[in-house]
Amino acid sequence: MIAERLGCCSRRHCLLFILAIAAVFFFHYLNILEMGPNWNPKLWMQNHSTKLFMPFGGQSTVKPTGESSTSAERSSPTRGTTTPNATTAASTQTARAPPVPYVSPGPYVVEYPYEYSFTINEPHKCEPEQPFVILMVQVAPNNRAHRDVIRSTWGAEGLVAGKVVKLVFLLGRKTGDGAEQLQEQLRQESAEHHDLIQSDFIDCYKNLTIKSMVMLEWLDTFCPGTSYAMKIDSDMFLNVPNLVDMLLRAPKTNYMTGLVAYGGPVLRDKGSKWYLPAEIFSPSVYPPYALGLGYILSVDLPKKLIGASRHVRALYIEDVYLGLCMQYLGINPTNPPSGNHFHVIPLSYNRCTFSQIVATTLVPDVDRMWLWKDFKRTDPYC
Ligand SMILES: *[C@@H]1O[C@H](CO)[C@@H](O)[C@H](O)[C@H]1NC(C)=O
Ligand SMILES: *[C@@H]1O[C@H](CO)[C@@H](O)[C@H](O)[C@H]1NC(C)=O
Repeated sequence: MIAERLGCCSRRHCLLFILAIAAVFFFHYLNILEMGPNWNPKLWMQNHSTKLFMPFGGQSTVKPTGESSTSAERSSPTRGTTTPNATTAASTQTARAPPVPYVSPGPYVVEYPYEYSFTINEPHKCEPEQPFVILMVQVAPNNRAHRDVIRSTWGAEGLVAGKVVKLVFLLGRKTGDGAEQLQEQLRQESAEHHDLIQSDFIDCYKNLTIKSMVMLEWLDTFCPGTSYAMKIDSDMFLNVPNLVDMLLRAPKTNYMTGLVAYGGPVLRDKGSKWYLPAEIFSPSVYPPYALGLGYILSVDLPKKLIGASRHVRALYIEDVYLGLCMQYLGINPTNPPSGNHFHVIPLSYNRCTFSQIVATTLVPDVDRMWLWKDFKRTDPYC
């Protein structure tokens, strides 16, 4: 038998081999049919090149309103167009259906999924040394002050208990007056510190869901070998040794923790900051979700959450949205080992108290440089 001569060693291998040969003949036959007697290579390239080389760029749909500078190159590759059988993260990520015309998502839903790109990046942040945990601080582009404080306080703890901890800041772009000047300053800051990641969505409160999804895409693309990632707001205090200690004992997959909210009510009062009308989201409570001030993910989750996001409407409340994606995946967020680990109500500074927590919001007027200097004194904490 042919297969035997070619070194097939089992019946199963033989069968696979024969199937492969059959497939080669099949596709060859198809191509011959398609080429036909009047086959013209130039025409063939014109008809096929967009499919082969430009999965997204081919057919842009122009936004009727909004920013003229970017609308021309906009297309909506994945919005509302998943493959019918896309059920896993991997398959939805490769979904390449034709774009649908742009429709504004309205005030309670953000423009996601969408192919945002990185205007400032650190593609090798996680090479050659993979961090154990990467801290991803979400911050407004013009908030240099917070970035500098973090760089010289808890963001500077590169190695804890033998584990590598890395830091990046995640920003969108600003528009309007001074935007170009700010962008130039950001480029300089990036050249100096190599810790900025900027994507081309408009950075504003209503777009935080985009920021978090872009964060997950970045992790999945540039940091897939990392164990954990922590999303943290720029006005927080973080006890990195306690974080690492907690994670050394944490599950390695399907793990999301932080301050988990259970039975969070959907706010129907129009004056509320987090108002959502029933037409957009009808249940009266949210599934469990980790509050956005600081949550931790095992880095197998980004790919799964991105997959889920193709099936869950992108509500503007980012932590709730990740909770909905987790629910879609059938994975529950995990409570931290201690109820004292995460604080959403600002803890006022006390050296002993702060030595026992993982993260807390800070009272607005506290001098964080002084606080850090005091916290890092070498005498016993309590
Ligand atoms: C694809 O999904 C349809 C229903 O949406 C189902 O009938 C069909 O069996 C599925 N095919 C595969 C290969 O899973
Ligand atoms: C959010 O970002 C998208 C993409 O840049 C933009 O089209 C949209 O206007 C932004 N939303 C707000 C409220 O600015």
